[in-house]
Amino acid sequence: MNESLAPRHHFPLLDDVTYLNAASMGLVPLPVQEQVAAFDRELALRGTTWFDEAQEVGVLDRARNAAARLLNASPDAIAITTSATEAFCQAAWWLRPARGANIVSIDLEFPSVTYPWFRVAAETGADVRLVQAKDDPASLSLDSVAALVDDNTEVICVSQVQFATGHRFALDELARLARAYDATLVIDATQSAGMVPIDIQASGVDMLVAGGYKWLGAMFGAAVCYLGPTLLERLDPPFVGWRSTVEPYALDAAHMALAPSARRLEFSTMSYGAGVALGAAMEYTLDLGTDRILAHDLALATRLIDGLDALGATLLTPRDIHSRAGIVTARFPGRDGEEVAARLNEAGVIVSPRFGSTRFSTHIFNHAEDVDHALSVVQRVLS
Ligand SMILES: Cc1ncc(COP(=O)(O)O)c(C=O)c1O
Repeated sequence: MNESLAPRHHFPLLDDVTYLNAASMGLVPLPVQEQVAAFDRELALRGTTWFDEAQEVGVLDRARNAAARLLNASPDAIAITTSATEAFCQAAWWLRPARGANIVSIDLEFPSVTYPWFRVAAETGADVRLVQAKDDPASLSLDSVAALVDDNTEVICVSQVQFATGHRFALDELARLARAYDATLVIDATQSAGMVPIDIQASGVDMLVAGGYKWLGAMFGAAVCYLGPTLLERLDPPFVGWRSTVEPYALDAAHMALAPSARRLEFSTMSYGAGVALGAAMEYTLDLGTDRILAHDLALATRLIDGLDALGATLLTPRDIHSRAGIVTARFPGRDGEEVAARLNEAGVIVSPRFGSTRFSTHIFNHAEDVDHALSVVQRVLS
């Protein structure tokens, strides 16, 4: 913890600022950025003389294979989508819960976790039920989710780690809840993948989505989408296109032979460089090891919590080490936490304002000195 887990020279920004903002945007390690830059250059300058059909068809396989290793899944269970939001929209329009069915989520969630279900429900008459936790984030628990689930629950869609408060759910407990009611469990791991070890097969999760540009250290434009065996078997994508097929370059407009794997969710071209970044970033993450990453990020977060306690802050993040990860969110009595965040940013301590509070995040490129420096600046801002 006194040292960063990843080499600091892979993150040149750290010469200038104290970056505690992976929950907003991670920093892309230089070796990853260099691979993307090389790919984009070849693509732009050499067209199909370099990027031929075979290369294009397989261009996302590196990301797919790395995601499979990261999650302990088969590559066939992984799709690379353009964003987490796109994957949720696909899930909502595919599963389309009907009138009489309900979808359970949380009012604190990142909006893309709930909006697609609202939109589909407006069409079908299904009911979207949200745990009310915004006024009292500390009240959020597995029990508060379970209280809304019943025999008509078709989907439970929540984040493993809450973006605003850092609350971490245990995936196996959520899966047990979903199984008990025969509901489909859809998890947003955008604030956990790349930090929290995930054994997706052991977890019993039906679908897991993770954006790439935060804890995974990739760039905008690519996300991981895992489908469990039950969903994979009945995968009927709402959007299809030339890349959804077994053989994209068959280019047969009269017959649509969809790929027999999660790849059938990949319906169009995309910024392929984003897929290259995602693959390279996940390999970088795998080299560090998520067990070590979680231990490192948690140790820094704990140091931060201790320091914030000493400064009289109120935490929105649970204290139990199993119920949090690398996000620490705090309010400061008598002060607007968003204004505190703005003052910290001005002073070169990069954090985010969220719901009247200040959100810090600790990751592989941070060390104890970053936390101590941030705490001394918080003290200065408060005084
Ligand atoms: C939990 C969570 N899900 C999804 C997103 C956004 O994902 P994307 O930009 O890939 O659609 C965010 C971004 O902050 C997030 O925190």
